[in-house]
Amino acid sequence: MSEWFDAGPLESIDEPGSRGFALREGAGASFFVVRKEGQVMAFRNRCPHTGAPLEWQPHQFLDVDNGFIQCALHGALFRVRDGHCLRGPCVGQSLDALPLEVSEGRIRVDISAL
Ligand code: FES
Repeated sequence: MSEWFDAGPLESIDEPGSRGFALREGAGASFFVVRKEGQVMAFRNRCPHTGAPLEWQPHQFLDVDNGFIQCALHGALFRVRDGHCLRGPCVGQSLDALPLEVSEGRIRVDISAL
């Protein structure tokens, strides 16, 4: 069953940019939303390499060029549109995408899988 979380207004996240959300303590209970080139995606904040959280600093999930999601620990690069790892120690694996919808300018994320 879906459990929708209100992640706030779409314009609260820069384009391109990202924002993290922590539901409870621990990487498995947090997720982030990323915007790039019209795409809005949500992923569990858990690197498939070691299970570590990905961000460089709070809310910073994109690389310096805002081209890819980048893991701060060993530098793996993930495609924004599907979370697929293109470079790094977990190449070929993917971030866990969460269902997301934008309704009346607000982001809603299904957190039932967290
Ligand atoms: S923990 Fe993410 S690349 Fe190693």
